[in-house]
Amino acid sequence: MDMDLSPGFHVLIGNNAQGKSNFLEAIYLLATLRSFRGTAGAQMVRHDQKGYFVGARVISQSDQEVKLYWSAAARRISINERNIRKLSEFLGVLRAVVFCTEDLQLVKGAGSRRRRFVDLLLSQTNPAYLPLLQRYSRTLRSRNALLKQRPIEETALESFTEELVTAGKQIMEYRKALMPRFSPLARLAYRRISNDQEELRLEHQPAVKRDFALELAQSRSRERALRSTMIGPHRDEIRFLLNDRSALQFASEGQKRSIAIALKMAQAEYLTGIHGTPPILLIDDVMGELDAQRRAGFLPLLQRAHQARSQVFMTVTEESWNVPGTGEPIRWIVRAGGVARMPS
Ligand SMILES: Nc1ncnc2c1ncn2[C@@H]1O[C@H](COP(=O)(O)OP(=O)(O)O)[C@@H](O)[C@H]1O
Ligand SMILES: [Mg+2]
Repeated sequence: MDMDLSPGFHVLIGNNAQGKSNFLEAIYLLATLRSFRGTAGAQMVRHDQKGYFVGARVISQSDQEVKLYWSAAARRISINERNIRKLSEFLGVLRAVVFCTEDLQLVKGAGSRRRRFVDLLLSQTNPAYLPLLQRYSRTLRSRNALLKQRPIEETALESFTEELVTAGKQIMEYRKALMPRFSPLARLAYRRISNDQEELRLEHQPAVKRDFALELAQSRSRERALRSTMIGPHRDEIRFLLNDRSALQFASEGQKRSIAIALKMAQAEYLTGIHGTPPILLIDDVMGELDAQRRAGFLPLLQRAHQARSQVFMTVTEESWNVPGTGEPIRWIVRAGGVARMPS
């Protein structure tokens, strides 16, 4: 499928299982090289095919063509026909924020979800962060593999430990520095979309309390018994607090949902603040779930995207959808994996 997508507010209308989320996935994939539904590469390949291809010409401050090809045997990403090996370079071209029902897992799910959220945000705003994270993950994997061997090669372990500490400290610095800047945006967004008076706050709770090298050394007997690295930023928690109480433990279902949306709104605001242009907003099945009050709180974000001549893609199952202040939406009908423009 080949499409030309103008700036503005796009509404994708279609029944269930027609391909609406797939459409958003294609855009998100080009922005983050990941599926927002957590689908692995192999599952994104169309049944009975060997691979997939997604490409786009991205027009913003610059004009760049990004291409992504994936198969079990080969992966290829390119910018302007130049093959790219550093994922961080690719991530800078297209920026997107997705709103989807899985966002609730940011609040309710495992700590890895929250770390991934923060890591994506940092990757979208610091070219140095993703390579750093990759370096840390690689070292962690090697170190854990060593811890599983008997006998343990002490000199190799020592050099991986050193590398882990160097990369780990920097990751913790980035995460710590993000919170005071991000948390106020999340608080504001939460206030907009919830009608309660409670204040949302984010807190980085590092697994390392003071000295990474020292605490790693202190965990020596434990990590040998459990054959895995027990301390480090891979164990950090990002806590969400409502009036200083853990949202995970005390927030109602509705409040958790509001927190999830607030986090994504804040992500969009943060990216806009840093890059000067709003990210593409991908809104999958979320608006229908919101009551009028929360929908109203969401509108300014859409209106601002509209004013900046950015793009918003929203999926719905019913035709009638108009957001005040964003003009007439561009409507598309999604049916059986195809997309057709609806005459306005
Ligand atoms: N790898 C695949 N190859 C072909 N079809 C797939 C694949 N994965 C999912 N589908 C189909 O895609 C459809 C779901 O598309 P989706 O974009 O989630 O729909 P919706 O319009 O409800 O958002 C389903 O019919 C599903 O069977
Ligand atoms: Mg869907």
